Amino acid sequence: MLKIGMIDSGMGGFSVLKGLIEGGVNAEYYYLYDNKYHPYGTKSPNELVAIGYTNMQKLVEFNVDIVIIACNTLTSRAVSQLRGMFDIPIIGVEPPIKPATMQCENILLLATPSTVKSDRVMEMMHSFTNKSFYFPDMSKLANLIEENYSNKDIIYRFLADNLSKYKNIQGIVIGCTHYNFAVEEIQKIYPKAKVFSNTAGVVKRTQYIINKNKFIVPNYLAVKVYSTGNEIDIEKKYFLCDYLGLGIEFYENLK
Ligand code: DGL
Repeated sequence: MLKIGMIDSGMGGFSVLKGLIEGGVNAEYYYLYDNKYHPYGTKSPNELVAIGYTNMQKLVEFNVDIVIIACNTLTSRAVSQLRGMFDIPIIGVEPPIKPATMQCENILLLATPSTVKSDRVMEMMHSFTNKSFYFPDMSKLANLIEENYSNKDIIYRFLADNLSKYKNIQGIVIGCTHYNFAVEEIQKIYPKAKVFSNTAGVVKRTQYIINKNKFIVPNYLAVKVYSTGNEIDIEKKYFLCDYLGLGIEFYENLK
């Protein structure tokens, strides 16, 4: 039966998992909630490759058929190296810059410092020189969401303080899976702007890989979440089950 491994530094990848579930992608999911190394966004490229390698090895031990790196930072800094090291399909998530450029002139790219500085993102932006891109400092946002996912006022205040100087924005690119949990607050600041997220693209790519490899899809869904550091607190466990709309098996301190 199809086993899908997922990696993120925390809850951000749940936005991708929710998209997969809503898209009808049944599987046994093994989600690595890598809170031991959270946040990824301020780590060096070498550290991120090492983190990706360690997590891939853990997922290989679970015999997963596909891995989804549900994290823009790890994708932009490590996916090509990891594809060279492991012989299973690895799907990544990248900021949807191109779709934004097709509809907008002034674009905010919201991503971690590591993603913003990556070659992949720089290359994408240099191919659209007739557009204006802005990169606010979001280095604290993933952690803020991780700690205040249920206190949206704190998230709104952070965004209002850090974004309000960027005027006349038509497009907002969500370049970090954690920020999918802040879309309502972002829209409060820019009610007229269009928000671009890549969740649907990852779902489509996953369905394509499943069909291409003829993986046997179960007629049920199972989600197991393994934190690599401390246990996820009980309120957050409830929040995450509620968010996905199903029961989750949680395990902690995965070695
Ligand atoms: N959710 C991640 C991303 O998409 C990483 C956030 C972080 O750990 O800094 O970039």
